[in-house]
Amino acid sequence: MSKKQIKLYYKNATTEVLSDDHGVNLESLKQMTPQIAEITSRLAHQRFEGQTPYRDLPYQQENCDRILDLTSKFTGRYDNLVVLGIGGSALGNIALQTALNSPTYNLQSTRPGPRLFVMDNVDPVQLSSLLTLIERELDNTLFNVISKSGQTAETAAQLLIAMNMIKAKLPHAALSDHIIATTDPESGTLRQIVEKEGLTALEVPAGVGGRFSVLSDVGLFSAAMCGINIVGLLEGAADMDLRVKDKELMANPAALYAVIQYLYYQAGKNLSVMMPYSYQLKDLCDWYRQLWAESLGKAQNLKGETVNVGPTPIKALGATDQHSQVQLYREGPNDKVITFLEVEQFERDVTIGSAGNIEELAYLSDQSMSKLINSEKLGTEYALVQSQRPCLTVQFPEISAYTVGQFIYLFEVATSYMGELLGINTYDQPAVELGKHATYALMGRPDYADLLEKIQPAAEIDHKFLI
Ligand code: PA5
Repeated sequence: MSKKQIKLYYKNATTEVLSDDHGVNLESLKQMTPQIAEITSRLAHQRFEGQTPYRDLPYQQENCDRILDLTSKFTGRYDNLVVLGIGGSALGNIALQTALNSPTYNLQSTRPGPRLFVMDNVDPVQLSSLLTLIERELDNTLFNVISKSGQTAETAAQLLIAMNMIKAKLPHAALSDHIIATTDPESGTLRQIVEKEGLTALEVPAGVGGRFSVLSDVGLFSAAMCGINIVGLLEGAADMDLRVKDKELMANPAALYAVIQYLYYQAGKNLSVMMPYSYQLKDLCDWYRQLWAESLGKAQNLKGETVNVGPTPIKALGATDQHSQVQLYREGPNDKVITFLEVEQFERDVTIGSAGNIEELAYLSDQSMSKLINSEKLGTEYALVQSQRPCLTVQFPEISAYTVGQFIYLFEVATSYMGELLGINTYDQPAVELGKHATYALMGRPDYADLLEKIQPAAEIDHKFLI
C-alpha cells in the first residue's frame, strides 16, 4: 500500500498573499502556539480518560478482523445491501462509497460486492421506488439498519417497512438472514429488536457520537461489503493520528486548520466552504458539513454562558459550482473561508483528443481532463485571492482508502480543536432534540401528548399569512 500523505496548503490564507484585513498574519498564528500546546494536552487527557473514544477507532484491529470475517461469509450471497440510517448513521457510508468505489459501481456487472443503497431520508417517492426495485430481489437483499439510539423515527420507520416486507414476501425466511443491526451494545429499542429477532448485531461504540462513528462498524461494514479496503482506511487514520497529536502548531494539520478557521471566525468570516475538485470527494463534504455544524453550533459555552457560536459549513463542487457560486464568493460579502480539496494523481484520466480544425478550441487539443480540472481549481483560487478571499487546500496525492482515512481523522480532530478554541461541548447536539420530540408528538407518541398540545397552534395554518 502506498504511504502517500495528504497535505494542508495554507499560504493563500495568510498575509503573504492577502492584505492585513483579510489574511492571517503568520505572527498571530505563532502567538497561538502556547494555547494550542495546552489544547493538545487537554485533548490527549480527554482521550486517556476515555471521553473521546472516537480517537481510538483506527486501532480496533480485532473489530476490523471481525467485520472482514463477516463480510467474507457473505461473499456472493447478496446482490443488494440497503443501509437504513440518517445523519451520522449514513453520511459516512455514503462518503466512503462515493470516494472509494466507481460512480457506476451499482451498474457494474463485475463489482466487488452487492449494490449499495443508502436510505437516509423518509421521502415516500424515493423510498417507494427503491422498494419496488428491492421487492423483486428481496431474497438476495441484506438490510443494515444503523441507529445508535435505536429511537430515530426515520430509521425506525424504514426498519418496520423492511421487516414487514420480508415477513410478507419471504414468509419462510428468518429476519436474521436479511437484517443486520448496528446499534448501541447495550441499550435502545433497536437493541431489543436484535435480541427478540436474533439479529446479527454490530456496534456503535459507547461514547462515539454518530458524526464521529464512520471508522467504527457504522461505516466499516457497508464499506467492506462493497470491497473497500477498510484496513487501509484505518491505517490512514492511524497515521494521521501521529500528525495531529503534535503539540507544535505548525506541524499539526488539524490544529492549524482549526486555528486558521477560528481566527477568521473571530474576524467575522463565519462561513466555511469546502469545495472539492473531484467528484469522488463530494460526499465527504456532506459528512464534513454535519461534523462541523452539529459539533460547533452551540448556544452555550462550557461555562454556561450564552454564546451562540458556530461557523456555517457550506458545500460546493468544483468545477460545477464555479458556474453557480463563485460570483458570490468573489463579489459578495467577504465572509467566507474556502477550503479546496485537490487531487494530484487521479485514478483514471481522459484525453480530450484533437480539436481538428476548430481553431478556438485548439488549446484543448490532446490535453487531459485531470489537467483541466486542476487548472480550474488553480484558476478559481487565483481569482478568489485576487478578490482578497482566503483559500486553503487539502492536497490528496491520490484518492485511496489510505488518504481518505487520513482526511476523515484530520477533520474529526480539527473539529475537536475548533470546539476547544470556541470553548464549547463538541460532542453533544441538544438543539436537535426538540424537533425530534415534536415529530414524535405529531406522529402520535402517547408520551409526547403534552408537547402535541403546545405544537398544535403552530401546526395549524393561519390563512391570513398564506398567499
Ligand atoms: O451525529 C449524530 O449524533 C446524529 O447525526 C445521529 O447520527 C443521527 O441523529 C442519527 O441518530 P441514531 O444513530 O441514534 O439513529
